[in-house]
Amino acid sequence: KQQINVGLIGYGTVGKGVVRILEANKKIALRKAGVPIKVKAICDLKPIDRKDLYVKNFRDIINDPEIDLIVELIGGYEPARTIILEALKAGKNVVTANKAVLAKYWDEIFTTAQNCQQSIYYEASVGGVIPVVQGLSEGLASEEILEIKGILNGTTNFILSEMTKRGVSYGEALKSAQQAGFAEANPSFDVDGIDTANKLAILASLAWGGWIKVKDIAVKGIADLDIQDVLITQEFGYDIKLIGSANKTKDGIDLSVQPCLVKHDHAFATVENEYNAVMITGKDSGDVLFYGKGAGQGPAASAVVSDIINMSEFIVTNTAGIVPDVVYDKKTKIKILP
Ligand code: HSE
Repeated sequence: KQQINVGLIGYGTVGKGVVRILEANKKIALRKAGVPIKVKAICDLKPIDRKDLYVKNFRDIINDPEIDLIVELIGGYEPARTIILEALKAGKNVVTANKAVLAKYWDEIFTTAQNCQQSIYYEASVGGVIPVVQGLSEGLASEEILEIKGILNGTTNFILSEMTKRGVSYGEALKSAQQAGFAEANPSFDVDGIDTANKLAILASLAWGGWIKVKDIAVKGIADLDIQDVLITQEFGYDIKLIGSANKTKDGIDLSVQPCLVKHDHAFATVENEYNAVMITGKDSGDVLFYGKGAGQGPAASAVVSDIINMSEFIVTNTAGIVPDVVYDKKTKIKILP
C-alpha cells in the first residue's frame, strides 16, 4: 500500500476536527503509519465547504474500492448502524466515536466484524481523548477486572463545575456546555445519564468479554439537582459528581449511573469542567487512574485520528490480511445483579 484512503461520514464538530488534525499532523501520521493518510471523500447531509471531497450518498463511500477505512461520525442509532454494518460487509475497517450505536448493537456489530474479518476501533467513544479503551483492552489485558468507576460525561461534569465554582444556574451551565460543543445533539442523553450508561456498558463489555446492555444499568441523571443541593454538599466537604460504576461481585456484575457525593480529597473531586476520569481496579494491578478531556472537538477528534493512524499502520503491516481484535465472545454469559 502506498497510501491509506479514508472515507469520512459525518462532518460536524468532530468530523471537522479530524480533517484539521490529519492535515496539520500529516508528518506525525506518516511516521507512525508508514504511508500517507488522505481523506478521499466526506459525506454529510448537506454540502460542505470542502467541495472537492463532498459525496452526497454514504454508499458511494462504502463501495469505493480505493477507500481503505471508513470513519463514522454522525452519531445516533440510524443510519449509523447501517453504515457500520455495510462498511464491514464491504470489507472496510471502521473507526467510530459513536457510543450509542456500539452500546445498543454491540453483539451485531462485533459479530459482523468478526465474520467479515474486519476491525472496528472506537477509542473516541469513551472518555474523549483518554486512551481508556486501549488501556483496558491492551494495557490491562492480563488483569481480572474487579471494578470500573468513572466520570464519563463531560457535559454533566461541566454543568456541575459551573454550578459549584461559579454559582451558575443549571440551565445557564447547560447552555454554555452546548455552545462549547460538549453536549449531545439531544442533551437529555447527557443530563439523564444515558451517555454515561452507554460508555459504562462499553467499558464493562470490554472488561468482562460479553455484552453488557444499557437496560441492565440503573440510571439516574442530574436533571433534578438544583443549586441548593450543590452548595449545601460543598459546605459539608463534598462535590456532587455523576458516576458510572461497575463492580464484580461473587454473584454477578453490579452496574449503576447516579450522582454521587465525592469527598474533596478524592481524586474525582479534582476532575473539573469537561474533563473525565476513569478508575479501573484489577486484581493484581490495583487501582489505575485515567484522566483527560472527555468532550470537545480537539479531544474527540484527536482520539479518532489516533485510531485512524493505528488502523492504517495495521493495514499496511498486515500483508497476510486483517485479523480483528477478538474483544467479544458471544458465548460469554455475564450475570448482572438486579
Ligand atoms: N456529550 C458527550 C460528553 C460528548 O459530554 O461527554 C463526548 O462523548
